[in-house]
Amino acid sequence: MKILIATEKPFVPLAIRQIREVTEAAGFTLALLENYKNNSDLLAAVIDADALIVRSDKVTAEVLEAAKQLKIVVRAGSGYDNLDLAACTAHNVVAMNTPGQNSNAVAELAFELLLYQIRKGFSGKSGTELRGKTLGLHAFGNVGKYVADIAHGFGMDIYAYDPFVSERVMKNNGAKQVINVGELYAKCQYISIHMPNNERTRKSIGYDLLKKMPPNAVLVNTARKEIIDEEALLKIFEERSDISYLSDIEPDCKNVFEEKYQGRFIFTAKKMGAQTEESNINAAVAAARQIIDYFTTGKEKYRLNK
Ligand code: 3PG
Repeated sequence: MKILIATEKPFVPLAIRQIREVTEAAGFTLALLENYKNNSDLLAAVIDADALIVRSDKVTAEVLEAAKQLKIVVRAGSGYDNLDLAACTAHNVVAMNTPGQNSNAVAELAFELLLYQIRKGFSGKSGTELRGKTLGLHAFGNVGKYVADIAHGFGMDIYAYDPFVSERVMKNNGAKQVINVGELYAKCQYISIHMPNNERTRKSIGYDLLKKMPPNAVLVNTARKEIIDEEALLKIFEERSDISYLSDIEPDCKNVFEEKYQGRFIFTAKKMGAQTEESNINAAVAAARQIIDYFTTGKEKYRLNK
């Protein structure tokens, strides 16, 4: 049985070493396709793979068609908008993710971006502090909970909106429930987004929400760029000079920001949320274990497709 790790953005070597130990001890062979530049490299590499581990790499119908032996694909991470789940099902391929394994790293990045911005990029100008400020968590899953935990240490006043999470869970994690998403945007100076990218959420943060933000608001997006309605974002930036946007990955309209809104944004060139040694190891090893469990015991925890 062959497991292929195909990562355009590789895991740290220590994560690969640990995966190798786990998989070889269970009798699997491991193949690596790292840093690849063309989809054709992926298509060639998957031909004889029984299992596939990816990050944000796109697992399309074309990839699944090429992967004649494939039985399982695991997205080592949480967001699975890169997997074509219908095509996985059509090709009898089990699809899984590894939720929670990189959540702390993403939560820390939200603060790294926020702190750098509100301290004016360490430029020598006076910035502001987090203590006593309002933080709004747009969605309260694994990452949102870690963000709330860290925000506590900073002495922030934490609110959360998530129609799928109860008030009790929010309260137990130190956040006050907000029932209406508009209220969250109106109440909180800092908003941190933690929703998945899917049909329901795509472009769901539009002008109606953005215009409610209080003076000197900062929108932090360590989720997915697709969630933001970029036309609305540009409109609010044009109208108000006090708002900042910090995003883990460049938006499509990055050029306009660079031209007109210097100092009011931070965009990472590559998605950096899960780029820590710890989260690479957590997610990669969890993915390997899930594959081994699937083949040896049939366990399907974290299966995404039916
Ligand atoms: C996730 O959804 O788990 C994160 O966005 C990490 O994505 P990455 O593995 O491509 O860095």
